[in-house]
Amino acid sequence: MLEDRLKSVIRDIPDFPQPGIVFKDITPILKDQDLCKAIVDELAFRLKDLAIDAIAGVESRGFLFGMMLANKLNIPFIPIRKQGKLPFKTIAESYKLEYGQATIEVHEDAFTPGSRILIHDDLLATGGTVVAASKLIEKLEGIIVGYAFIISLDFLQSLGRLTRFSDNIIALAR
Ligand code: PRP
Ligand code: ADE
Repeated sequence: MLEDRLKSVIRDIPDFPQPGIVFKDITPILKDQDLCKAIVDELAFRLKDLAIDAIAGVESRGFLFGMMLANKLNIPFIPIRKQGKLPFKTIAESYKLEYGQATIEVHEDAFTPGSRILIHDDLLATGGTVVAASKLIEKLEGIIVGYAFIISLDFLQSLGRLTRFSDNIIALAR
């Protein structure tokens, strides 16, 4: 089962990047291209009826599978980046995450108003990152059709923060 395969390779790194945090290291997944394909195939299958216009992925780990998924679905990929990295006109949102604070940005012309956007990230912890990403998408009048994560740390708790944007929330491992 895909969830078991994922859990067997994702590594727990205690006290990274700061004391008290157990960091989920997804880099072993990237060594196994069969597993990468299985992830993308499973997400594509589970998202096939959502009529998605584009995948938005959050820097940096959200780029890894976000772009592969967009390619598989043959739709655009929208990079949401940390502050100061996108070169054209941007809008920004600040947020807290499990181990700090950050600001993310998206290009003003990333998609046309009314586009149906799926938000992807590798991991859901507090939900702060994808809530901020959702606010960016809504500011540009995108419709959030769902969320897709590889792993969720505390699915039920963060779920509550996302359902005001969309009820379609997929996490391949919990
Ligand atoms: C990690 C992860 C998610 C976010 C999840 O990113 O990739 O984007 O934290 O945490 P949250 O649900 O509490 O917001 P990070 O900001 O560490 O950046 P990275 O992807 O560049 O490693
Ligand atoms: N992002 C937020 N919390 C995390 C964790 N515990 N492991 C990996 N990425 C994270």
